[in-house]
Amino acid sequence: MVITIDGPAGAGKSTIARALAERLGLRYVDTGAMYRELTAAALAAGAELDDGAALAALADTPPPPGSDLRAEAISRHVSAVSRHPQVRAAMRGRQRAQAVDAVLEGRDTGSVVCPDADLKIYLVASAGVRAARRAAELDMPVDEVERSIVQRDQLDSEQLAPAPDAVVIDSSGLSVEEVVARIVALLPVAAATPLPGDRFWRTVRPVAEPVFRGLLRLSVTGAEHVPRRGPVVFVANHQSMWDIPALGAAQPRAIRYMAKSELFRPRPFGAFLRMGGTFGVHRGEPDREALRTVHETLVGGGTVGVFIQGHRQEGFEQAKAGAGRIAVVEQADVVPVALRSRNWRPGSRIAVAFGPPRRYARDGRRAAEAYRETADQLMADIRSLYEGAG
Ligand code: DC
Repeated sequence: MVITIDGPAGAGKSTIARALAERLGLRYVDTGAMYRELTAAALAAGAELDDGAALAALADTPPPPGSDLRAEAISRHVSAVSRHPQVRAAMRGRQRAQAVDAVLEGRDTGSVVCPDADLKIYLVASAGVRAARRAAELDMPVDEVERSIVQRDQLDSEQLAPAPDAVVIDSSGLSVEEVVARIVALLPVAAATPLPGDRFWRTVRPVAEPVFRGLLRLSVTGAEHVPRRGPVVFVANHQSMWDIPALGAAQPRAIRYMAKSELFRPRPFGAFLRMGGTFGVHRGEPDREALRTVHETLVGGGTVGVFIQGHRQEGFEQAKAGAGRIAVVEQADVVPVALRSRNWRPGSRIAVAFGPPRRYARDGRRAAEAYRETADQLMADIRSLYEGAG
């Protein structure tokens, strides 16, 4: 899910976006901070602030260590830096890459960066209220801050048009909790509740993803096939326990894995798995509870990871019809995944290959037949992805 919060300086975007991300288990992306970092880098490099190409070339340069991004000197120049189309184009790519299960905050995140966001908010407040908030933050006289805010609104005006489908909220007389509650009330019920594991993934991913990518020497193909939002079922083969972090790190979505219930038996490990959103399935019997969890996760716009053979196996036989059932019954994109992780040892490489997403249906077949054939089809797709995988 992607929510954008745009609006003028001091409208309360950062506070609201952070609180909302926390509440919904989403990541928080501060696009203004990216422009502020670039401004700090540009000032340190002595760049000409009216040279858009030169500034865009600095887009990957980190600001000097210890820069105070909120300092008045940065605020004064950030509009001059951010108005250049070359700068905006460079930032847009980076912002879109982070727009997965996220709350984005800025000026144009709903109108330009994520035009198909699930929900767009345009937050406003009176100039007096905005100045009072900023003045308290910066410990400066209110009238001075108000002058600078009004000036920055003028300079930012080009970026400051709300998306036509944005919901305007005036935060002037409202507390943070009240604004967050109004936004949450605008979401479909299923989306307003974080799924188990969302918080865990959001917290752990920034550290775990680079670590696992490096440790497992991941070679990833077809990651662009993974839908950035909406319900997804990953259907994979399974060769080693490293498949779990490998698949998690190879693509941006938070995955709820279906795992055999025996795995939860050592209590602390079971608790750890649950924290990551993993849920148990009893094998050899239709497990209604597990299927309900699959359904609820997908209805909530989440993703489920299923190992199609039910356990670790080197070959490509014995696809379980249960995976076919999920593919046929659920309204979700089904992404086949090949994992080449057999005998992984430190130093060796794991290959992950994603196929294009597909939807499956019964198409007039008997249910059992449709499930079986879909599972076999998926297994064949995984096998051919495996053969092409790095
Ligand atoms: O939200 P902020 O005050 O940290 O933003 C700093 C500046 O960055 C703001 O004056 C305009 C610019 N900005 C922008 O042009 N587009 C965005 N999406 C976010 C910020």
